[in-house]
Amino acid sequence: MGSGRGGSSGSGGVGASGWAPATPSPGEMAGKVAEVRALVERHSARFERSIPLIASENLLSPYAKELLISDFHSRYAEGLPGERYYEGNEQVDEVENLCLDLARRLFRCSFADVRPISGTVANLAVLKALAEPGDLVGTSRLADGAHISSAAFGAFGLRGVKPVYYAWDAERMTLDVARTREILRAVRPKLCLFGLSLFLFPMPLEELKPTLEEVGARGWYDGAHVLGLIAGGEFQDPLREGCVVISASTHKTLPGPQHGILLAETDDAELVKRLQSGAFPGVTSNHHLNEMAALAVSLAEHLEFGREYARRIIENARALGQALHDRGFDVLAADLGFTRSHTLAVRVEKEGGGEAVARRLADAGVIANKNLLPGDKSPKRPGGVRLGTPEVTRVGMGPKEMERIAELFDGLLHRGRPTEEVARQAAELKSGFTTLKYCFAAGEAAYRYYDLVGRPPA
Ligand SMILES: Cc1ncc(COP(=O)(O)O)c(C=O)c1O
Repeated sequence: MGSGRGGSSGSGGVGASGWAPATPSPGEMAGKVAEVRALVERHSARFERSIPLIASENLLSPYAKELLISDFHSRYAEGLPGERYYEGNEQVDEVENLCLDLARRLFRCSFADVRPISGTVANLAVLKALAEPGDLVGTSRLADGAHISSAAFGAFGLRGVKPVYYAWDAERMTLDVARTREILRAVRPKLCLFGLSLFLFPMPLEELKPTLEEVGARGWYDGAHVLGLIAGGEFQDPLREGCVVISASTHKTLPGPQHGILLAETDDAELVKRLQSGAFPGVTSNHHLNEMAALAVSLAEHLEFGREYARRIIENARALGQALHDRGFDVLAADLGFTRSHTLAVRVEKEGGGEAVARRLADAGVIANKNLLPGDKSPKRPGGVRLGTPEVTRVGMGPKEMERIAELFDGLLHRGRPTEEVARQAAELKSGFTTLKYCFAAGEAAYRYYDLVGRPPA
């Protein structure tokens, strides 16, 4: 059977374009479909057995999940509700208006836009709206925990803005306020981004607010990681602490679909217009209506369950930090209780370095990621791992289970326990925590693979 260019086509020859599409052998493509399904099922089963500690991940509630495969997935709705470029959007408009209402209510603000399709796209929308190429924009260094959006090879570079780096206090794992004030006064950036991917403590926004006003810079908060904690009233309140806009992903501590959002508290119609046109047509065309509908559900569920969930996420992170510290791990910011968020930073040089440790943990069923830490000599040799508690909390684990997770780390990385033994212990621990909490379908299987139509016939 021919395949690739020059192969015989299904209808037996070269088409009008002169190009013959590849012809799969009988049953070959049904086999590929089955293969993809089997891999995703295997992945789901693996995560069901694992201890997932990636700080940027979470589990979607069943009521949100079912909307991802609804007909909304198949439609377009460019523009704003009531002002679309397509017909057939009546229900889409109602859902989007509901979604916007829920977002404004959850974050106590006057403006929301749910059209950015991810956190990075939300950041690009803000850059499009509030900065011009060549502008100076304040941010943190990647080595101090910033997201790649702030890098020359990321969103900043794409918009052509020049980063102005804040000073970092590595002991306290937050900005050095006095030195950052000096930098802002000397350089006078137009826009100042606050927010991190290794986000342990609230940003000192209130302390910096007078300096932002003095130099005429707008405050911008990237809440991708901590959005669910902010919504739960457990972290900080950027829109009342000096930031004009929040951009964020909606799937980390806020356990929604993979999507993005913009939020602002403002009566400035010009600002609203700029943010809206930053989102569309600036950086999106269609805005993934199935995700938008799922986001509406997740926002409603967070209004109902988010306070308690956010509190427990942080309680677990602090408990895990303490339990690891008690077992000899170098958890950063020990004097400050390790964290005020969902995230911990652990220096693991003596255990073999971030890369080796993250790999060994994964082999033993504990999923985390290597991470650069302040003071690392090379970006290619991260000295730490980042741990997060959103997912283990979502399946109902508490401080007692954080002790048991720390024992897994200790056994594997300090006491020479075999990987298979630790993997067995991890799976045994997890077997009691495989259903969802903090949502309306609490008790539903968290890692279920939804088989709609069965295996395709060969
Ligand atoms: C601080 C921060 N901003 C933005 C993003 C990008 O989010 P997304 O993956 O939704 O594009 C991330 C992702 O982890 C992040 O940590």
